[in-house]
Amino acid sequence: LHLDALVGTDLDAFVVFSSISGVWGSGEQAAYGAANAALDALVARRRAQGLPGTAVAWGPWARVGMAADDETATQLRRRGLSPMDPARALAALASAVGSGEAAVTVADVRWADFLPLFTAVRERPLFARLAPAMTGGPVPEETGLAARLAGLSAVERHRAVLDLVRAEVAVVLGHASAGAVEASRAFKELGFDSLTAVELRNRLQAATGLVLPATLVFDYPDAERLAAFVLGRFAPGTFVSDATVAAAVAPAGDDPVVIVGMGLRLPGGVGTPEEFWDLVASGRDGIGAFPTDRGWDLEGLYHPDPEHAGTFYAREGGFL
Ligand SMILES: NC(=O)c1ccc[n+]([C@@H]2O[C@H](COP(=O)([O-])OP(=O)(O)OC[C@H]3O[C@@H](n4cnc5c(N)ncnc54)[C@H](OP(=O)(O)O)[C@@H]3O)[C@@H](O)[C@H]2O)c1
Repeated sequence: LHLDALVGTDLDAFVVFSSISGVWGSGEQAAYGAANAALDALVARRRAQGLPGTAVAWGPWARVGMAADDETATQLRRRGLSPMDPARALAALASAVGSGEAAVTVADVRWADFLPLFTAVRERPLFARLAPAMTGGPVPEETGLAARLAGLSAVERHRAVLDLVRAEVAVVLGHASAGAVEASRAFKELGFDSLTAVELRNRLQAATGLVLPATLVFDYPDAERLAAFVLGRFAPGTFVSDATVAAAVAPAGDDPVVIVGMGLRLPGGVGTPEEFWDLVASGRDGIGAFPTDRGWDLEGLYHPDPEHAGTFYAREGGFL
């Protein structure tokens, strides 16, 4: 802002270095992202005033600058952002300024790694149209798993898929074996974050040949439930004959919906759907006196003053 105020109008170029964090955001960098977006806005304002200005939003640079340390570079690389060689970045800078555009983003992104992670927990409209074109979309592969499972009983099949899920979880989390992964323990407790969640999705896709959502680990929060989901994703005809499936889903007579049973229990002594309908139709109240067969000291626990500690003042309730 000071430079903008101090330089005159007789300039060939006014170039600011902003960041991808201001263009599409980056985790835990809200303030940094906002500051960089403000820089882009400054250039837009200069342009609107007929003054020169170029904002170059950089992805990470390699070897020099704020993203250069090994740990940061490794983290970024895992997320699909390859730190850029400074010589190449400088060449890109020249063409960015030469392009005449107000704002140019220069980043080396492996979209197939970046986008699934970036869109893991919510939609990112900026990339919605780019995504299929850049990643080519997920391609299901024939892994032979369905054929292997088809030879097993239902119980064995579930066990096999659960073992597969636990083994892949172990690899992603760096455990020595599937035995370290409790089937009913929440993935979150096991240490999953959005990066490892996407890694697990990718590994399971490769192992099963299925196209699986990136939100897998959040939607099916433990190995047991994830295994059930994966098993269910195989086509219905995979494990039983088509004829069996067709017979199972065929309507009985000309009634497309068949209710085989209903059960409920509600206050007012309602124990069947019919009794519930009677209650509603008669306008009766389901609230009634306290039960006397529970061994509750009803008189001792009653006190008419609601503020009186250790007692209740209700005489009736809805019990089931
Ligand atoms: N490197 C990247 O990968 C990358 C990616 C995207 C965007 N960017 C943007 O590019 C710009 C430069 O990044 P960099 O990697 O070169 O950063 P850097 O290595 O941290 O260098 C920052 C420079 O700014 C100077 N500086 C900091 N606070 C200042 C202040 N209050 N007044 C005057 N000078 C100040 C520092 O001076 P001292 O050395 O005296 O402290 C230093 O020379 C930053 O705005 C950054 O947001 C960089």
